[in-house]
Amino acid sequence: MQIARNLTIFRLLQRSERSFFLFGPRGTGKSTWLQKDLPDAFRLDLLDSLLFLELSRDPHRLEALIGNRPGGAWVVLDEIQKIPPLLDEVHRLMELKRWRFALCGSSARKLRRGGANLLAGRALTLSMESFSAAELGDEFDLDFALNWGQLPFVRNEPEAAADILAAYVDTYLKEELPAEGLIRNVPPFVRFLAVAGQINGQMVNVQNIARDAAVARSTVDTYFSVLNDTLIGHALQAWRPGFKVREAAQPKFYWFDPGVARGAAGLVRDPADRLWQGTALETLVYHELRVYNEIRRKQRPLFYYRTPAGVEVDFIIETARRRPGSPSRVVAIEVKRAERWDRAWDKPMRILAETSGIKVDHMIGVYCGAGSYQFDTIQILPMSVFVKKLFAGEIY
Ligand SMILES: Nc1ncnc2c1ncn2[C@@H]1O[C@H](COP(=O)(O)OP(=O)(O)O)[C@@H](O)[C@H]1O
Ligand SMILES: [Mg+2]
Repeated sequence: MQIARNLTIFRLLQRSERSFFLFGPRGTGKSTWLQKDLPDAFRLDLLDSLLFLELSRDPHRLEALIGNRPGGAWVVLDEIQKIPPLLDEVHRLMELKRWRFALCGSSARKLRRGGANLLAGRALTLSMESFSAAELGDEFDLDFALNWGQLPFVRNEPEAAADILAAYVDTYLKEELPAEGLIRNVPPFVRFLAVAGQINGQMVNVQNIARDAAVARSTVDTYFSVLNDTLIGHALQAWRPGFKVREAAQPKFYWFDPGVARGAAGLVRDPADRLWQGTALETLVYHELRVYNEIRRKQRPLFYYRTPAGVEVDFIIETARRRPGSPSRVVAIEVKRAERWDRAWDKPMRILAETSGIKVDHMIGVYCGAGSYQFDTIQILPMSVFVKKLFAGEIY
């Protein structure tokens, strides 16, 4: 498929009517979305170095800069993480002037560490990621996404995907995160990123990662928490169906975008083999689940599952928690990078469905073939059909 360039993609994220934070990795389209969604807002971008200096020296200037605007007027503050103390001023102006603020940035981590109050719950938190397949609609190209991911930069210039992803990792991950004060010592972080790129979609073994990257275990934990807080990575916890505490499996780690994972792993110049693409497909499915959870305000917890015999189900969506007298309800999803579905692949889901105390609402296999199938209780869906059904609310 020919990928259309520079086509404006409609984002599914919905603004709140009250003040909000909007966080997400660099280049996911936050500023573009704010421009489109709040065209009449008064805008201040802290990337502007003069403005940055002025407001860091004197946060009170914010009021004068905004000037005479009626209550309810919108103010966009972009790259807010650059001046955490500004939030106290924002808080004051929200109360005093009744202005509404859209506070955009890469993450809350810097804000929290800067001692900012995050507005004491007065603002909602939204998040933005790469384009979702649901947003791309007919423009969604599975093959391209498996190889290069769905960052807007990459989608807009597909022939330069490898260069863009390499630059993204070099400038954003290796330079800006340290520059934002999130990383103190750069060389070990750079080694860690390469290892973390390689283990996309795998269970996290901190000890092995520490050894491979030659950094301390506690440092590996810190680095993962930076990636989580900046929404660059997500820890997918192992699902534990019962009340009984049993041996907990380690979480799996997924990058927000398979292209960025490939960039971090240093593999943009090597062909993405089928194994890599298999993980990339899981990464894309997880992304769709997160976007759906966010835009429909479902916020159902997502997990993976390991049967007692050690067989895995890629995703478990807990649609109802277990309570005395009522079982957990879940949707189970198994993802395979294959054009034909092998019935052996749905066995872990069937084992799960036979477990007592669990009610499985749907069992779905997502694959790269063209046809949809219904085998007794198991549905097999091509990726694009799965995404349509998900966003139509037919899955949970
Ligand atoms: N909805 C969209 N459709 C097409 N291109 C987009 C869209 N949103 C962002 N882009 C492109 O992606 C790039 C990064 O977007 P930007 O809004 O600056 O990201 P962020 O503010 O999250 O860093 C820009 O070059 C922009 O043209
Ligand atoms: Mg921006």
